[in-house]
Amino acid sequence: MSRKPIIAGNWKMNLLKSQAKDLFEGIKDFVKDYSAQELPTVVIAPVFTSLSVVDTVACNCGCEGNKISIAGQNCHWENSGAFTGEVSVEMLKDAGCSYVIIGHSERRQYFSETDEMINKKAKAILAGGLTPIICCGETLEQREAGVTDSHIASQIRAALEGLTNDQIASSVIAYEPIWAIGTGKTCDSDEANRVISMIRKTVEEVSSSDAANSIRILYGGSVKPNTIAEQMSKSDIDGALVGGASLKADSFNEIIANTMKVAIAK
Ligand code: PGA
Repeated sequence: MSRKPIIAGNWKMNLLKSQAKDLFEGIKDFVKDYSAQELPTVVIAPVFTSLSVVDTVACNCGCEGNKISIAGQNCHWENSGAFTGEVSVEMLKDAGCSYVIIGHSERRQYFSETDEMINKKAKAILAGGLTPIICCGETLEQREAGVTDSHIASQIRAALEGLTNDQIASSVIAYEPIWAIGTGKTCDSDEANRVISMIRKTVEEVSSSDAANSIRILYGGSVKPNTIAEQMSKSDIDGALVGGASLKADSFNEIIANTMKVAIAK
């Protein structure tokens, strides 16, 4: 079973439309020199107001645009209705998205998202034919208290509850230790690989070994051009969810380039 690497850029609440367009063009310019086979799956998650701008840039060059997939940073689980401020999976699809990030620690922490909500979102995303990127991760306090594995296993079990094995196999998980997000502190790559192997084992327990071997599990937390090669060399790390370093074409493109140097499909 082979797993194609993913490099996903999470732009968070950054960049106005014209800036988003310039950055997306800078990435498109880089990926155009490589075949889709050579490239990892490249995913960009802009703010909602820039989705149509980047979708236009992605599509205006025929097949080149297909080399970058677009993601929403969040969604609601209902299709439509009286949910002021929310956006549905169908709307994200309509705006050009094929992925949706859910359960990011910033959403859990600042917007009180629960495991149950994340599970509803995962179901809606998969039912709508899109791919969820399900985030999980521990705080520094949890790590120091020795409950990292149990906490993450319980986040994963809750997020995947009620999904079919095929749905799980096609999903993406991002392990993002909260203390490593935006801090410049990366998790030691052997430790990240250990936690990700534990996540894969948890996936197997709730589904099948096929699904566990297929699901792509990323590392996130201060990923930079000079950290990615070592991270990608680990057995269970299938790519990265990149925040800060995805906001500049140079650093994001270098992360893609360094991934191609080491990444053999796993
Ligand atoms: P960071 O963010 O790369 O800036 O640490 C990662 C994330 O939050 O997805």
